Amino acid sequence: MPPRAPNPYRPGFNQAPARLVGRDAVITAATEALEIAALDGRTPRPLLLVGPRGVGKTVSLGEIATLAGQEHGWPTVAVELRPGTPFTPELVERLQAAATLLGQATVEKSGRLSVSGGKVTARVLGVGGEVHVRHTQGGPAAVPLDEALTAAAEAAVACGGGLVVTVDELQLADRAELADLAAVLQQHVGDHWPLVVAGAGLPSLRERDRSVTYLERGEWHELGLLGRADTVEALTGPAADADRPMDEEAAKVLADASGGYPYAIQVLGHHAWRASHGQERIEAEHARAALAAAQRDLSAGLYASRWNDASPKEREYLAALARLPEGSGGGDVARKLGEPTSKVSYLRDRLIKKGTLFPERGALRFLVPGMAQWVREHAEP
Ligand SMILES: Nc1ncnc2c1ncn2[C@@H]1O[C@H](COP(=O)(O)OP(=O)(O)OP(=O)(O)O)[C@@H](O)[C@H]1O
Ligand SMILES: [Mg+2]
Repeated sequence: MPPRAPNPYRPGFNQAPARLVGRDAVITAATEALEIAALDGRTPRPLLLVGPRGVGKTVSLGEIATLAGQEHGWPTVAVELRPGTPFTPELVERLQAAATLLGQATVEKSGRLSVSGGKVTARVLGVGGEVHVRHTQGGPAAVPLDEALTAAAEAAVACGGGLVVTVDELQLADRAELADLAAVLQQHVGDHWPLVVAGAGLPSLRERDRSVTYLERGEWHELGLLGRADTVEALTGPAADADRPMDEEAAKVLADASGGYPYAIQVLGHHAWRASHGQERIEAEHARAALAAAQRDLSAGLYASRWNDASPKEREYLAALARLPEGSGGGDVARKLGEPTSKVSYLRDRLIKKGTLFPERGALRFLVPGMAQWVREHAEP
């Protein structure tokens, strides 16, 4: 038996894929923002990534941190919001750690930052360095956000470096807390800080808080399903890199089953890899053998959570759509429900916003592949 090669697919939330494909617009924007901050001495607009669950918002934020580390040696302060929990104390604490870190940094000849000695290891300023603080106490922040951010930015200026701040799950932010963060950032736009801010959240983020002009003026990127060529690359790339290439037919089977949904791509790739254990290639039979297991994994989490998350009216809408032929749109669903389109379009909008449905060229699709069938078989409207 050959040694068990590590599986190159990453079927889990927040797990960076071996190949992050189809996100060139975000990567280009992040590269530009970093250059504006590092070279032009201006503070770029914030980058805001929105999209439904499982399309790669978190891993794209991680990629921005990696870029900052690789290209400039800059550290990243990353916070992820949790329901009903203020994020400012954690942000403040991490900004303070970043200020300490930057205070110990020097610029190398290459222009990169490095840290010599000190309490915080140089490693965190390396590739994709994130500033971690061992534990975060709840309760009010020790110093105001403005003070912590100013200290970190000034430390960055002083050492000739810079700083990235990422905020994930922004849609969970309390209105006032989000407005405070935006106000602090807005207030310093003219200070020419070497600071790149990136946020991510569900599409509902776009609808709310229009009053927060700082966010409105941000550079918004909508992440969605991957196109066919990107899907195939996301499937075949990791296999090729791991020395067990995937046949064209196998890639086709898996790409069809994934519908271009990034999370499903990783789950399918993972099971095809397992099914081809001990073989030199991933072939169509392995891909087909993987489908059932992948479907079970996907359904366990994704279908049920979305269905449970839907109101009775939304369930009626989903059940109707699931029983229509592929390519049907909102008008068809309304007809099936026996209602005028205008009367049920709010359900369509809500389900899109929640990331259960996805509009595509006039048609409505279930975002998670296979969910239509699951609804037909399991769901009591
Ligand atoms: N561009 C991509 N190419 C290939 N795989 C990807 C890509 N983007 C994300 N993935 C994979 O999709 C899965 C979900 O990624 P991630 O956790 O970043 O999604 P998310 O949008 O943050 O979801 P949530 O809204 O639930 O937080 C992971 O398994 C990741 O490896
Ligand atoms: Mg995420």
